[in-house]
Amino acid sequence: MNNRHIWIDGSFHKWNEANIHVLTHSLHYGTAVFEGIRCYNTVDGPAIFRLEDHVNRLFNSAKIYFMHIEFSKDQIEDAIIDTIRKNSIVECYVRPLVYFGYGKMGINPLNNKVSVAIALWKWDEYLKKEDFDHGARIMISGWARIDSRTMPVHAKATANYANSALARMEAIKAGFDEAIMLNTIGMVVEASGENIFIVKNNILITPPISSGALEGITRDTVLRLAKDNNIVTKIVDFSKDELYLADEVFLTGTAAEIKTVGEIDNRMIGNGGTGKVTQQIKSMFESLTRGNHKFSKQWLHHINIE
Ligand SMILES: Cc1ncc(COP(=O)(O)O)c(C=O)c1O
Repeated sequence: MNNRHIWIDGSFHKWNEANIHVLTHSLHYGTAVFEGIRCYNTVDGPAIFRLEDHVNRLFNSAKIYFMHIEFSKDQIEDAIIDTIRKNSIVECYVRPLVYFGYGKMGINPLNNKVSVAIALWKWDEYLKKEDFDHGARIMISGWARIDSRTMPVHAKATANYANSALARMEAIKAGFDEAIMLNTIGMVVEASGENIFIVKNNILITPPISSGALEGITRDTVLRLAKDNNIVTKIVDFSKDELYLADEVFLTGTAAEIKTVGEIDNRMIGNGGTGKVTQQIKSMFESLTRGNHKFSKQWLHHINIE
């Protein structure tokens, strides 16, 4: 990996030399925010999907944590593009991270430097590879999803991912691929790193952001694709048993893209494979991110890579 480079605060560092001090504030107290962005090899060359929306969410997350980023949104967008160019990897997952760095130890980070790092890697298959007949096997986590009374769920903050990681580890150790999390009043929120959709009687349903779910950019993309195709959508809370009885279930996220769920808590969903509506959404998403959809122009930021 040492031919790869990571951008930190305005300059590139070799992959193996992009280190931080062990007393970095965010390492101890979870005070960092991040993004996950994909660059696709489209029919018109490399393009970043919804770059501006991701950078906006990064700055919103930082705002919630009183982090003053020393770069403008445009500079961060340019830095993301430069990092992809520098590494010459067309199809990649980009991870910008904003963190309170080394300085004073203690809970208050306000006097510590706020740094920005941008790394990328190839992340072809995020959740376990599915085939057409079998979606992911999911369990409902015993861990409740954090809610806005305890943590800012609209911030994509590293601290929130301790809750996610506990759920994901629980699922993996129990032999499942992923965990779905309920909120403290027992309604379905999202998976450990993806939003969730169900299809019931041809209606596409996802929980509202007020359930505690992250305002996913892929979630928004799916809702807009569905609307454009006259698929009836509803944004409402639903319970665990409604999930078990759904005709189709899928997860959405930048890393996971659109993933079919085949089983939940050992109950098969539909015939266990990709259902009709899920397939329709998957196909539209695929053509969108490859530059073949009428929305591609508005959401793909083309870049030149030598
Ligand atoms: C907890 C959680 N929910 C939902 C998502 C999906 O968000 P997006 O589609 O913006 O990647 C993610 C991924 O970032 C996530 O970590």
